Amino acid sequence: MTRPRNDTFLRALMRQPTDYTPLWLMRQAGRYLPEYRETRARAGNFMGLCTSPAFATEVTLQPLARYELDAAILFSDILTVPDAMGLGLYFAEGEGPKFERPLREEWAIRDLEAPDPAGKLRYVMDAVAEIRRALDNSVPLIGFSGSPYTLACYMIEGGASDDFRRIKTMLYERPDLLHHVLDVNARAVTAYLNAQIESGAQAVMIFDTWGGSLSHAAYREFSLAYMQQIVAGLTREKDGERVPVIVFTKGGGLWLEAIADIGCDALGLDWTVDIGQARERVGSRVALQGNLDPSVLFATPDVVAREATRVLERFGSGPGHVFNLGHGISQFTPPENVTTLVETVHSVSRKMRAGA
Ligand code: CP3
Repeated sequence: MTRPRNDTFLRALMRQPTDYTPLWLMRQAGRYLPEYRETRARAGNFMGLCTSPAFATEVTLQPLARYELDAAILFSDILTVPDAMGLGLYFAEGEGPKFERPLREEWAIRDLEAPDPAGKLRYVMDAVAEIRRALDNSVPLIGFSGSPYTLACYMIEGGASDDFRRIKTMLYERPDLLHHVLDVNARAVTAYLNAQIESGAQAVMIFDTWGGSLSHAAYREFSLAYMQQIVAGLTREKDGERVPVIVFTKGGGLWLEAIADIGCDALGLDWTVDIGQARERVGSRVALQGNLDPSVLFATPDVVAREATRVLERFGSGPGHVFNLGHGISQFTPPENVTTLVETVHSVSRKMRAGA
């Protein structure tokens, strides 16, 4: 695998020195961009984008054409995996993702199987390969998956939830059943991420969006343990290059030391933690990715520049920072503010290194 011309992102994940702080944005291809909405209309709907490698490639590249981002992320969704398990993913207009056949019965849970990534998920691997060809080694490509627990939330609730009543009832009443779902999910995610790496993903990220809703003890038992199982099973080197793994638990600020110990290369941080304190807590074990509040992008450009500078200063000098938002970019973000953000992060971090 040839190294990308701009490998700043990969170097930062491996805590090597870089000329500036690299950045990419969670959900960088999405509804805040008019060109995304236009392509989605041509594809018919969101799943039409995901299942066509040509459309997925087109929208993956859109934010990179506008902004000097340091990484591309595969355009897809975490829920492709439970869809391939037969749960029937659909998007109801304005309601987010839903499953036609949520996991509610014990027999359905016992029947659950990890899908072969070369089967129903083939379209994802084809998209990864096509995006890599289109990127032509300009910047690295990130592959991703949901965490076993976050996938289970959607699989058991059947969609988004405010209180996670069904999955938490199962967690406390029938932990054996939930452990079975999580074990199948962990095996599915390991195979899915390894297939993405085989198809050309140069780093991978595990999104644990709902791990932060768990109790202190339950987080370790029902989310972290399964992410650790995945990390242990991932391909970590491809064609002589390290394939870094980023783990992001939204709301996981209290557990950073424990997450840093599962063997990943980097931690994603939401905006509730101070990145300087996070750095002191995890030391040199992992790189950090984050942690600007996405809502900062609703404010004026001078506020965007001030708040981005604050994150850079709180991280301080030295290697191991990938700038990002603490969660996905909002569809209501003015696209010009992203220009300000990218320029600020690049120029301020260059100056900080020159002054150091
Ligand atoms: O970052 C990127 O540009 C890559 C694409 C990406 C999408 N989903 C595209 C998407 C990634 C990395 C995801 C991950 C994802 N999907 C997560 C974990 C990250 C997070 O945000 O916490 C979760 C929980 C999902 C499940 C999901 N998919 C939800 C909750 C929604 C609805 C959210 C919304 O904004 O309406 C989706 C749909 C979705 N996935 C969209 C995009 C661009 C919006 C679909 C549209 O065009 O209407």
